Amino acid sequence: MITKVKGTYDILPSETRKWQELEAVIFQVSRLYNFKEIRTPIFEASELFHRSVGEASDIVKKETYDFSDRGDRLITLRPEGTAAIVRSVIENKLYADPIQPQKLYYVGPMFRYERPQKGRQRQFHQFGAEALGSYSPALDAEVIAYAITLLKALRIPNVSVKINSLGDSDSKAAYRTELLQYLKPKISELCPDCQARFKVNPLRVLDCKIDKDSPILVNAPKPLDSLSLVAKTHFQGVLSRLDAMGIAYVVDKSLVRGLDYYTHTVFEFEADLPTLGAQATLGGGGRYNDLVKSLDGPDYPAVGFAFGIERLLLALESGEKAPKENYIHAFMIVLGERSQPKAAELLIDLRHGGLIVDTDFLMRPLKTQFKQAERLNAMYIIIFGDDELNNDVVNVKNAKTGVQETIKTIDLYQYIVKGIQNQTSTCSGHCDSCEDEC
Ligand code: HAM
Repeated sequence: MITKVKGTYDILPSETRKWQELEAVIFQVSRLYNFKEIRTPIFEASELFHRSVGEASDIVKKETYDFSDRGDRLITLRPEGTAAIVRSVIENKLYADPIQPQKLYYVGPMFRYERPQKGRQRQFHQFGAEALGSYSPALDAEVIAYAITLLKALRIPNVSVKINSLGDSDSKAAYRTELLQYLKPKISELCPDCQARFKVNPLRVLDCKIDKDSPILVNAPKPLDSLSLVAKTHFQGVLSRLDAMGIAYVVDKSLVRGLDYYTHTVFEFEADLPTLGAQATLGGGGRYNDLVKSLDGPDYPAVGFAFGIERLLLALESGEKAPKENYIHAFMIVLGERSQPKAAELLIDLRHGGLIVDTDFLMRPLKTQFKQAERLNAMYIIIFGDDELNNDVVNVKNAKTGVQETIKTIDLYQYIVKGIQNQTSTCSGHCDSCEDEC
């Protein structure tokens, strides 16, 4: 038997409803903030990620899926969305579009060769957003608010926002010199990874998971203390807008994030929930004012974030309201060959009327068909055999109350619709229309 590749998994039919519901919330919230969807390929020229995410980042050093295609091109399965969106924005000249800033979002699979564990896969999915074309701190606040609205709409509890500023390129350069001086005499006491990072990108030493509690890192100078006036003003601009919107946050001076392209604001969304295990970070992002330019585009600032969809789904398991169960409105039990054509007619009428209906295709006995209806979580079970056909009636059983009635075939659609309306008005949990009340 050929099995799935390590770190990948199938999303089975029993789980896809949860994904669809989550995606529906993503689409609704994106509409509220007027972000438009963009879809880019899942593989790109390797150079794109090497030049953007950063040679010193764990992603590029150890985690990318790189291969040469049959034309000897170096290709990488995208480990994240930002670089790909920036490539597309430059290539399609979206920076010259009359609508500015460009507010874009995406949902799709990403690939990182990491050690698989709960909430960490090699193929995982992200919902990400990128807002490009404005230096204003209002845009940083806008994307953070967008992310918070999503988490609120999903009713994920115990969420916290960590925020920091790395400063503009001048502040970053000044800070780099200061950090190098501080770390130089101490670096041999830190882990081999830190020693390697020290040489290529010392900022990433602050990000070390092994030595994060060592006094060397705890007492290290922090980017926030080296901000230029412009960078300080920008950061204050972001925080004051978050305050005005009532969005709570914690300034975390050690937050640097694992990708090299950030300038100014960086932030992460965490949830303290048992279902998340060790992976408390739901998502993160920040400003990247220099990335478009560094990939041969114009001066075009940007800010964005990405959430791991698998992590959002894990968080939802601890939430106030777990996604609704799969259900169907009715299951039609058909008995006997002669009643089949009429049953097909009834089914298509119910479906054209917007009802979710299924039936038996294996000519199974009555009891087994009832079992199938139960497994599919049918609200109503319609029984249709020769007797019913002869008398132009159907037997309809309400799965919840157990009440069974014989009704005229012509009244079937109305009967079920009315029944569903009655059930949903008392919040059975089966409705799509009264999301908030159920
Ligand atoms: P990131 O922090 O690398 O940022 O990833 C964002 C989120 O993707 C993480 O917080 C996590 O929820 C999820 N994630 C990452 N790796 C895995 C994995 N192996 N398995 C499951 N989930 C994972 C970025 O990717 C940036 N592009 C975000 C951004 C957008 N910054 C600016 N714009």
